[in-house]
Amino acid sequence: MSATVIDGFSVAASVRARVAAEVAALKAGGVIPCLAVVLVGENPASVSYVAGKEKALAEVGMADRSYRLPGTVSEAELLALISSLNADPSVHGILVQLPLPRHIDEARVIMAIDPEKDVDGFHPVSVGNLVIDRPGFLPCTPHGVIALLREAGINTRGAHAVVVGRSNIVGKPLALLLARRECNATVTICHTGTVDLPSITRQADILVAAVGSPRMITADMIKPGAAVIDVGVNRVEDPTAKNGFRLVGDVDFLPACEVASFITPVPRGVGPMTIAMLMQNTLQAAKNR
Ligand code: GUN
Repeated sequence: MSATVIDGFSVAASVRARVAAEVAALKAGGVIPCLAVVLVGENPASVSYVAGKEKALAEVGMADRSYRLPGTVSEAELLALISSLNADPSVHGILVQLPLPRHIDEARVIMAIDPEKDVDGFHPVSVGNLVIDRPGFLPCTPHGVIALLREAGINTRGAHAVVVGRSNIVGKPLALLLARRECNATVTICHTGTVDLPSITRQADILVAAVGSPRMITADMIKPGAAVIDVGVNRVEDPTAKNGFRLVGDVDFLPACEVASFITPVPRGVGPMTIAMLMQNTLQAAKNR
């Protein structure tokens, strides 16, 4: 079998086009949706993610307020910036790129963001709304995965979805979304304490890898005909590549294609969807005002 490769890049482009049309309508009414993007330090992956977000903001016609803080900035200074952005009515969404340097308490920073501007969906109020099925901002990567499954026509009802990874950003919220009535999947979460991981991943109709470990999901861990969603973005050294590194996912892609029915590539799979969903959340934040 050779899997259908899900083109996240083009699905994301159509989401952005829909957002852009709504942004134009809001602007005609005098509202310019605006996202404040805060980057602390110079982590190369974060610099690249933030550049992607800023490019998308320009494309959909939103205002972009960028803040670049040195890696030595104090937690108090960062909290003061967030407080001023919370109070600024022209800012609709606030995104603080993670991870933060070790001397800053990430949870405290996330909790300082006004939940009305929490377009990342990381604030405990947003997380709580997700848990109890109340409207609120959904975290962008899990929401992007659900949108990709829907666009690709992958059935989730009654499917066994196995999510490998229990992060706050992807694994846990994605498991909750898959178990929601709209998806109706039966969900298993695997993590570093899971005994005999391959025996569980081989039961998955939908297998999601969100671990951050290059090519750790090998073809023998995939049930024939499964849909495989690769959330991992790992930089591996490659002297033949332009910058000396290459991006690979958590799935060993080519052999996996021989077993799966659907698969997302890295890059151009889940990644562009994360950014598209961020645009959608920022639009929603502006409309909520
Ligand atoms: N770091 C990795 N993914 C994300 C994300 O979706 N949002 C933020 N703020 N930081 C991240």
